[in-house]
Amino acid sequence: MESVSRRSFLAGAVAAGAAVMGWGVAGCSASQAGSASASGSASSAQSSSSASTSVSSSSSSSISSTGTSASAAAFATGPTFDLSKRTVVLNNGVEMPVLGLGTYILSNAQAEESVYAALMAGTRLIDTARIYGNEEGIGRGIKRVGVPRDEVFLTTKLWTADFGSAAAAIDASLQHLGQDYVDLMLLHHEDANDEAAYRAMEDAVAAGKIRCIGISNFYEDGIARMVAAASIPPAVLQNETHPYYQERRPKVAAAKSCTVLESWFPLGGKQDCHTLFADPVIAEVAANHGVSPAQALIRWHLQTGNVYIPGSSNPDHIREDANVWNFELTADEMAAIDALEKGQRLAWY
Ligand SMILES: NC(=O)c1ccc[n+]([C@@H]2O[C@H](COP(=O)([O-])OP(=O)(O)OC[C@H]3O[C@@H](n4cnc5c(N)ncnc54)[C@H](OP(=O)(O)O)[C@@H]3O)[C@@H](O)[C@H]2O)c1
Repeated sequence: MESVSRRSFLAGAVAAGAAVMGWGVAGCSASQAGSASASGSASSAQSSSSASTSVSSSSSSSISSTGTSASAAAFATGPTFDLSKRTVVLNNGVEMPVLGLGTYILSNAQAEESVYAALMAGTRLIDTARIYGNEEGIGRGIKRVGVPRDEVFLTTKLWTADFGSAAAAIDASLQHLGQDYVDLMLLHHEDANDEAAYRAMEDAVAAGKIRCIGISNFYEDGIARMVAAASIPPAVLQNETHPYYQERRPKVAAAKSCTVLESWFPLGGKQDCHTLFADPVIAEVAANHGVSPAQALIRWHLQTGNVYIPGSSNPDHIREDANVWNFELTADEMAAIDALEKGQRLAWY
């Protein structure tokens, strides 16, 4: 009974908040199952540079006119990406950019510079976490650019040690960021007290401190447990995802609540990104389009229907990572990268 009234209250609060803030409230229907919508995305690839490769760059695009990637359809389900707008509509109606910046292990000073470079390059999604210790730098970077706050989608995460005192940790993050609200807050890991911490995030949604909530480093059982316990279903699942570890099963599990998959380690992480860049398939796909391996990888994430947040402290890399809109991987190229799945985690934990 208490749970029902809590659900009703929170649903009302979210709807009221959405109306006040001008957010649409949309559901996730079966027709949304799929990945990337073609409308407005690149129609011609920068493909002049490669003549003799075995991964075809000339077959028809993997993105169909109905907006579903043929390659990704086998496992990519969830809300549809609109690559013309570079956004996805989450299960609460909030529009989230699909192109972002990660800030793992950046200092406050580095985070400020990276956020500055990313926002100047047009990136509008910034990912940080309380445990990264750089929320102050992130907030400074946003303010320095002066982009309207409602044009930035800011994510932070609640660390496990804070799960027992989550309400205070949420306020501390807002204070460090210098913000009245964040657009997305995630539970950083599955752990003891995670349901209580999730409830604290739900209360913060009702209080207008958080627009969307989600989970990170959860797998099938944990996703099902949290969805059952939640009054507000998670909008986002952020897990390690790259071609060697594609997260197909958790993605399908998350799609039951129309939860979007967001890739961490999208390039393989600091230690292993060069292994992925040198992978013959990825190098060949990149050469097909005259782009860098990082850009080819990013395009694979997007066309698969994964939000991507590559981390970087290098402004040149940040600009390069933001410049992925004028080429499209073909169905053959998507399938070739899909086939790299090895079930191989690259993170140490
Ligand atoms: N929820 C979680 O548990 C969790 C865990 C890990 C990460 N994350 C989030 O996910 C984000 C992404 O993960 P990550 O940063 O660890 O790994 P990543 O994005 O897979 O790889 C980062 C590495 O890629 C390099 N890089 C980026 N763009 C490049 C380019 N165009 N050319 C060459 N190198 C490039 C960076 O080097 P430079 O700095 O030299 O550019 C850095 O060493 C993090 O920043 C963080 O926000 C979340």
